[in-house]
Amino acid sequence: MPTSLPRHVGIIMDGNGRWAQLRGQPRIEGHRVGADSVRDVTRAARQVGLEALTLYAVSSQNWARPADEVAALMQLLRDYLVDERPELMDNQIRLHAIGDLDRLPALVREPLDALCRDSAGHTGMTLTLALSYGGRESLARAARTLAARVVAGELATDAIDVDALGQALPTGGLPPLDLLIRTSGEQRISNFMLWELAYAELVFVDVLWPDFRRNDLFRCLDAYAGRERRFGLTSAQLAEVDSDVEPTAG
Ligand code: FPP
Repeated sequence: MPTSLPRHVGIIMDGNGRWAQLRGQPRIEGHRVGADSVRDVTRAARQVGLEALTLYAVSSQNWARPADEVAALMQLLRDYLVDERPELMDNQIRLHAIGDLDRLPALVREPLDALCRDSAGHTGMTLTLALSYGGRESLARAARTLAARVVAGELATDAIDVDALGQALPTGGLPPLDLLIRTSGEQRISNFMLWELAYAELVFVDVLWPDFRRNDLFRCLDAYAGRERRFGLTSAQLAEVDSDVEPTAG
């Protein structure tokens, strides 16, 4: 088990379509098996003690996919929210959703809102589903929120700093993003958590999402534990900070 655990892990779950095509199956079959990966990885994340797990399930741009694929994805999301409700409730997992949720059909929105509301007091782990989500869109919305507060006289322009903008994002209440994983071998960010990624470690794995299970997550956590995070400082400065915080025994 890794020694240095990230507090918050984000995952771009990529490769469902290719997984299905490799097997001569419709793309939706990749999403269906991908939902099983979501279940396994969420359970494992809770067991190892992550504080937050954020999954990129539907992007702002995914609505432009063929209508039958979008409809099937929505049905899978609903099935997931209904079937996993007891698991999330029993394990103190708080469900949170980010993105343009008004675009979601009622068949997703209703179980989503109910589970977010009913799990709001849970303290075990926050599972955030990014649904109809875009990083740029989130930043634009946060800017609009802050601008409206300035116009209303509630906020001074000078008070718009890194903290204020970060707090205006839908991830404002989550721990800082420590690790981003993208599956399928692609090395892109694809409009995911653009602000939050500032100091995250990036791990790209050559595994298609439907094949990605708990052991793959553990390998990514091991890779994270081996990284030196400097946050703009030098290694020597970091060593000083560490020795201040944790004086060596004896
Ligand atoms: C990217 O693969 C994946 C998606 C667009 C959807 C992700 C959805 C799931 C994993 C299942 C449902 C989600 C939950 C939370 C239960 P792709 O289709 O772009 O793959 P490709 O790049 O190989 O075409």
